[in-house]
Amino acid sequence: MLVRVESGDIARTTTDCVVVNLFEGVTRPGGGTGAVDRALDGAISRLIEQGDIRGKYGELTLFPTFGKIPAPRVLVAGLGKPAEFSVDRVRDLSADIARRLRAARVQRFATITHGAGIAGLDPRACAQAIAEGTILGLYRFGKHKRPEEDTTEVEEVVLVEHDPAKVSSLEEGVELGVVLAEAQNFARDLANEPANVLTPTELAHRAQSLAAAVGLEWEILDRPQIEALGMGAFLGVAAGSHQPPKLIVLRYRHGDGPTLGLVGKGITFDTGGISIKPAAGMEEMKGDMAGGGAVIAAMGAIARLKPKINVTAIVPATENMPGGGATKPGDVLRAMSGKTIEVINTDAEGRLILADGITYARRLGCSPIVDVATLTGAISVTLGNVAFGLMGSDAGLVERIKAAAKAAGEKVWELPMFEEYREQIKSDVADIKNTGGRNAGSITAAFFLKEFAEDTPWAHLDIAGVDVMDKDRGALVKGASGIPVRTLAHLALSMSAL
Ligand code: BES
Ligand code: MN
Ligand code: ZN
Repeated sequence: MLVRVESGDIARTTTDCVVVNLFEGVTRPGGGTGAVDRALDGAISRLIEQGDIRGKYGELTLFPTFGKIPAPRVLVAGLGKPAEFSVDRVRDLSADIARRLRAARVQRFATITHGAGIAGLDPRACAQAIAEGTILGLYRFGKHKRPEEDTTEVEEVVLVEHDPAKVSSLEEGVELGVVLAEAQNFARDLANEPANVLTPTELAHRAQSLAAAVGLEWEILDRPQIEALGMGAFLGVAAGSHQPPKLIVLRYRHGDGPTLGLVGKGITFDTGGISIKPAAGMEEMKGDMAGGGAVIAAMGAIARLKPKINVTAIVPATENMPGGGATKPGDVLRAMSGKTIEVINTDAEGRLILADGITYARRLGCSPIVDVATLTGAISVTLGNVAFGLMGSDAGLVERIKAAAKAAGEKVWELPMFEEYREQIKSDVADIKNTGGRNAGSITAAFFLKEFAEDTPWAHLDIAGVDVMDKDRGALVKGASGIPVRTLAHLALSMSAL
């Protein structure tokens, strides 16, 4: 699908549908909506008068234009109260509009830039949000399904701008939005893919072809190399699987500044291992590589956006399976850092592979390090499917991530790292154990990771809970969310030339 900007008059644009908007309480629309209203002999004003259109946020009214303008249909989108409007609302509304028009078999539409008028939002940011919302909202994972008859795809969306002087800044916004949304959809494709297709080897292949396409350096380490590095924690998780583990490394270089390390959990399927999970809902564990997928996808966006910073992505990828060779509860593993780990529960596998991933990031000189993982069910008890959890050892880094999430329009919430919690992961037989009991499960998992980050500034994003959506919600569609790709890309942008 193509999103582009054009200078002209929305009322005179030739397309399948023109999209205009209305704030709540407005009786005489102005701007592009006013122009379309006049061209339609006051049809929109009449619908407002009759109470058919009220401008409530998310209200979508589609009606025919009977040859009065070149476009055969017009859609009036309600923007709600100006004081409550925001760039995030532009993104979600754009997704709703695009899905609504796809359902009406519209293949091309033109729109005005929602929010850039009386709401007083930055037009460039609004254009970006329209591109993001449209591309994200139209996403579907249909490759394993016969397409339904009668369905069409939206092929082109044009932002029509009256003032030619504003076109280039809108174009900049659209360009950034397209890169971010396409990266997020790439992450969605990875996490939606069934685990028989997306094995660790296949994940490595996809990372490699992305790297080749956008110009990243890549390296895929296989079992002998992982053994040579002494990654006993990672290998302990891989021990039950017939699929060979892969350590995926992608590098983006721009200048001689610091190297941001992004470490992603790449469990391509999590059965729980010997501490096997209940059958109900286990299919969702095909998405247990969502953190790794987000990190890989974000590298694609970073390569295209070219911030002045170095970024290295590390994704330990393996299945977590039971089997004759599998790690057992009570086993002691020696991590790459030299620390020994008592495995209490083989289902707490994410922290084991991340331990070695983080150690490897340190070995490569990364600082700071940010890891991303579908780590704990506990985080969805805490934050539901709305926000991801953030914990870290470095206040500056934590604040920078919060700012990046805000800029990206993704929701994050920090959990405390009080020293008292560390107690829960002390082991009688090893340096540390891999579970800390039911209480504060997300925080004790973070304390486990902190042991391996040591003195390197580090933060951890626990995305279990937001990695999969159970229904469409604005720019988020049912299935893999692709969170937090946009936050990671914004983080790298914010560190440019530091
Ligand atoms: N991958 C799961 C966490 C998860 C749960 C992600 C639900 C998405 C949805 C993780 O490996 C896991 O099993 N965590 C355990 C840890 C426990 C054994 C300490 C959990 O949260 O129950
Ligand atoms: Mn698990
Ligand atoms: Zn897991």
